[in-house]
Amino acid sequence: MDMSVVRVVVTLLFTVCHAWAQPRLNTVSTTITQTSGYSAVLNCQVYDLGDAQVIWLGPMGMPLTFGRKRITTDKRISVEQPYSVDWNLHIRHVKPSDAGEYICKVDTSPPQTKRVNLKIKVAPSINHALSTKNPLSVEEGENVTLVCKVSALPAASVMWFYYHPQRPNNREQPNFPASVTGELLTIHDISKEQAGIYECLAFNGVPPTAVKNITVNVEFKPIISSTNKKIRQLRGKDTILECNIKAYPPEIAIWKKGNMEIKEGERDWKYYPTLFKNSESEFVLGLQIYSLEADDFGNYTCVASNQHGTASVQVLVEELVVKPSTTTSTTTTRGTTTVTTPTSTSTSTIPMTSSVSNKTLSSIRTTPNQIKSTTTQKGVIIDDGDSSKGDKDPGYNVLTTPAVYPISPAEQDPRNRGNCLNWKLSGLAALVLLLIIM
Ligand SMILES: *[C@@H]1O[C@H](CO)[C@@H](O)[C@H](O)[C@H]1NC(C)=O
Ligand SMILES: *[C@@H]1O[C@H](CO)[C@@H](O)[C@H](O)[C@H]1NC(C)=O
Ligand SMILES: *[C@@H]1O[C@H](CO)[C@@H](O)[C@H](O)[C@H]1NC(C)=O
Ligand SMILES: *[C@@H]1O[C@H](CO)[C@@H](O)[C@H](O)[C@H]1NC(C)=O
Repeated sequence: MDMSVVRVVVTLLFTVCHAWAQPRLNTVSTTITQTSGYSAVLNCQVYDLGDAQVIWLGPMGMPLTFGRKRITTDKRISVEQPYSVDWNLHIRHVKPSDAGEYICKVDTSPPQTKRVNLKIKVAPSINHALSTKNPLSVEEGENVTLVCKVSALPAASVMWFYYHPQRPNNREQPNFPASVTGELLTIHDISKEQAGIYECLAFNGVPPTAVKNITVNVEFKPIISSTNKKIRQLRGKDTILECNIKAYPPEIAIWKKGNMEIKEGERDWKYYPTLFKNSESEFVLGLQIYSLEADDFGNYTCVASNQHGTASVQVLVEELVVKPSTTTSTTTTRGTTTVTTPTSTSTSTIPMTSSVSNKTLSSIRTTPNQIKSTTTQKGVIIDDGDSSKGDKDPGYNVLTTPAVYPISPAEQDPRNRGNCLNWKLSGLAALVLLLIIM
């Protein structure tokens, strides 16, 4: 047979087949959801395309591809054909603005179309510029609103947590009156106890969760608490004064004798001031006075101040005179009083003085060990300072515990004098009672 005849027959057959087989498009609409940043594949399958063309249109009816050619300038877009019937539209690194309805169209008459709805998810993110700056300093009594500006798709829910400075590993729900309206947390009349880290946490089902910490510093005027008003000691002995200071920001903490400021290192044969930092806003200011002489008895003042005000408390150091008539039995001390020489070579520098008033106390760190090692066993005599109680019994304790000790009001109660056990037992009883009530 002539080869040219065969060729003509085959060509004819093809032409006839083509004329019979119209392109067929799967026109079922679909919806696909993709996370921002990833690639989206929009499916379109066409059988028997023949000479027809597949066209992809974007959300605004904008033509994106014609056949295998990209006609938009957006280089993220292409048509991929894993199989010859596939005319899939690929969009790389999708973004929220890519969302919308895409149309796969075959230019037959009438044209056939398939719609693909593209949805974009976005993991939450916090816009720090539009959120509360961190850290935030406020004054006690202010109304504080914390803002965590979140963007997410779909919208995220925002939760707030609180970390108390003394329980930094304990994520808590703010349990004080605070109103939460999504991105806002409002604290009315903030108190110093409400200082801490506020954490906002946003999630919308698209990982990862977004988190922001806002450290809220609450500033307040210094407060001096639980300090003995009067101390008695024998001439020639040493003594220790202490005052508990709360202040934020901490600026000045100093002992004064009359108008004289007792500066660290200035008269170190006589005075040894110490500062122990319990927290960012709580301090114990101590003063050791060595070998009491006549001049050393009198009033000492603990002064604490910052930009919000000043607080001061007086402590009277009185000479203890042991009357021979009241026999040694009444003045028996529990424990011995040992006097150690101060290690005034201590390297800790403690700015106690106005000369370093601009330096915050937070920059100093005196460890409890340092204090204990230099202040053991000073034979401090504590009195509640209430002279109306009469002179019938000196009623004092010679403390043999380390110098830095918490002074509870109960220990100063005359009924509990000399009986630390009573005090502990009553504390225990109160605790048990509390547990029963709860
Ligand atoms: C705090 O808010 C309360 C109630 O909205 C208002 O009465 C009070 O004046 C506000 N306090 C300050 C310091 O703005
Ligand atoms: C927020 O602060 C808490 C408590 O210090 C800490 O455990 C957490 O990891 C912090 N979160 C961030 C995102 O820094
Ligand atoms: C100490 O201060 C108190 C109270 O201000 C005062 O009554 C007392 O006279 C002062 N004592 C001495 C010895 O200065
Ligand atoms: C105190 O510190 C502030 C900022 O920390 C500074 O602007 C100011 O000049 C300082 N004042 C003195 C007296 O050093």
